[in-house]
Amino acid sequence: MHYIHWEKADSTIVTSLWNKNIGETFPMRNHLMRQNSFNHSQVIKNASWLALNENNELVGFIVGKSSGRDGWIQMIMVDEEYRHEGIGKELLKLSEEGLKENGVNNIALGKDRYHYFPGVPANLQDLQRLVKKSGYESDGFEYDMLGDFSAGVSIPTLPAGVTCELLPFKQKNALLEFLQINFPGRWVEEAEDYFIEGGQGREFLIMKDGGKIIGFARINDEKSPVIFQNTYWTPLFDKKVGGIGPLGIVAEERGNGYGEKLVQAAMAFLSERGIQKIIIDWTTLVSFYKRLGFVPWRKYNTYSKNVE
Ligand SMILES: CC(C)(COP(=O)(O)OP(=O)(O)OC[C@H]1O[C@@H](n2cnc3c(N)ncnc32)[C@H](O)[C@@H]1OP(=O)(O)O)[C@@H](O)C(=O)NCCC(=O)NCCS
Repeated sequence: MHYIHWEKADSTIVTSLWNKNIGETFPMRNHLMRQNSFNHSQVIKNASWLALNENNELVGFIVGKSSGRDGWIQMIMVDEEYRHEGIGKELLKLSEEGLKENGVNNIALGKDRYHYFPGVPANLQDLQRLVKKSGYESDGFEYDMLGDFSAGVSIPTLPAGVTCELLPFKQKNALLEFLQINFPGRWVEEAEDYFIEGGQGREFLIMKDGGKIIGFARINDEKSPVIFQNTYWTPLFDKKVGGIGPLGIVAEERGNGYGEKLVQAAMAFLSERGIQKIIIDWTTLVSFYKRLGFVPWRKYNTYSKNVE
């Protein structure tokens, strides 16, 4: 077995290894692999490796990312025919060393920008065992939720003065400012990326009260300029699939029923586009979404490790 840098990887070969191993539950597309693991600026050379057998065939890989002191293992995979030979442990070691060299002091599994998973999928038992043995501590669960809305969804009735509309492109800066004030961090960066990638507004629903933005929801489908996290696994379905999220209501307006109306409106807008199944990804708000017809679909254990 030998280990070489990720930059020598061929995305179609990595995609094939992925699909051979977990494609039935998480079908990878070359386009998505390129978007999240090849073209993303936070992928760290010294933290991303390939494991090759004696015939130079790919049997495992790991992708590490970082931003300042935060590091992430985006994905680690060892072919099922090569497990329990110490390859996963070695890949993790190489990646952790690379991240540390880059100044990282905390490593999370998944949750990176342009992640695949918000943790470790609960069904990947071998991976769960490996990371526990390697000193990662589990601190909770995240869920993806799924709903079938083939029967259609109507726009909800909104209180007087409250509106829900797709973002007019000319209000792009108002949305970015709203996000920056109310939901700073990742959600702002993702919205900025969306506009850089040519987004025109059809993926953002904004809720206003008296003309002032009080909430937003992102809605994604196959026409969106970025393959967004809640549409990663759509090849699993023969129906049209869309995704909702992130979403939020300004803190001072929470608890007034607006969040529920916002999600219903997002469902209705997707339904109008012919979407029958909707995915909400990376959430702990299981009871909130259950009320709206979603059921837990995927479960993830979250893990992190201090490497100071
Ligand atoms: C989640 C969020 C959108 C809910 O908005 P909201 O306007 O407060 O929600 P609503 O008032 O419509 O609540 C509808 C129901 O869901 C329940 N609910 C609201 N927030 C909840 C939460 N965090 N967890 C569980 N249930 C919740 C409410 O209890 C309410 O039920 P009730 O009428 O019986 O009291 C809002 O809390 C928010 O913006 N949070 C920060 C961003 C976020 O977490 N977004 C979701 C990412 S997946």
